[in-house]
Amino acid sequence: MSNDTDSSGISFTAFYTGEVWRRHGLSAPFLSSMQGRALYLAGRPVEWAGKMLLGMNNEIMLLQRHRILDHLLEKAILEEGVTQVVEIACGLSPRGTLMMQRFAGRGLGYLEADLPGMAARKRQLLNDAGVSSAGHRVIDINILEKDTTESLEAVFARELDPARKTVVITEGLINYFDYATIHGFWTRLASALTRFPAGIYLTDLYPDFRWHPGVRVANAFKNGLALATRSSVTLHFDSEQAVVNGFCEAGFSSTRVHLPESWYGVLDIPVSSAPSLVRVIENRV
Ligand SMILES: C[S@@+](CC[C@H](N)C(=O)[O-])C[C@H]1O[C@@H](n2cnc3c(N)ncnc32)[C@H](O)[C@@H]1O
Repeated sequence: MSNDTDSSGISFTAFYTGEVWRRHGLSAPFLSSMQGRALYLAGRPVEWAGKMLLGMNNEIMLLQRHRILDHLLEKAILEEGVTQVVEIACGLSPRGTLMMQRFAGRGLGYLEADLPGMAARKRQLLNDAGVSSAGHRVIDINILEKDTTESLEAVFARELDPARKTVVITEGLINYFDYATIHGFWTRLASALTRFPAGIYLTDLYPDFRWHPGVRVANAFKNGLALATRSSVTLHFDSEQAVVNGFCEAGFSSTRVHLPESWYGVLDIPVSSAPSLVRVIENRV
């Protein structure tokens, strides 16, 4: 990993999200961490102020995106016959473990992937808990690498079965990179997905929110996050049409933008009184 492709400053955020999943009964006990508990407690005042002042906060949006992504993945497995999932930037997400508990019997294979440091930690946790298997593994990947064993192309060629309908998920990754960088990754991903009988890419993203009543607070949060993670936190797209155009230019043939509001009362997700800022995107090739 060179300086240009070292984004490991982002990795600690996985402890925070991992603790959010655990606190809300969405995780497995073995994925809890001391770092997560400490970060969660440190974040309480900001989360509380957000809810009081704006009617929403980061935690609400995390839960919204996580449940919608779970739902879309379940649907792809049950209704479209997907049997291969790659979760890039998996962090301490419980999704792989929980999906394998439910769908291993249907022949599901689940590959979790993250930067080497986080991937090693997750691999150890799954091994210690006795839940990893030939069909459920954790491997090293770096979406910024192009010609190394950790590149998307090398991982796909080495680890995946080209005969299986495949879903790729990223959660909590996209907005840490500027548009040119993340668009380059999407273009390579769209091309890689065309080799499977079906290729679906599910991701969350936070669009440009100049219209939002809480824009000042949200901007302060964005700037703080950029500093803490040493990354170029960027909000992508200023309209739904721009999202569709952006993924189309990257090579996806269809794109649906899911707003949390359209899932209120349908899925068990928290309702915010202010418009939500998170979107879940369902792309196909
Ligand atoms: C906010 S966490 C999200 C973790 C998990 N998806 C979740 O929602 O709980 C961001 C994750 O992105 C991973 N990450 C950062 N840069 C990456 C890169 N270049 N390639 C792959 N993963 C990366 C970090 O290690 C971290 O696990």
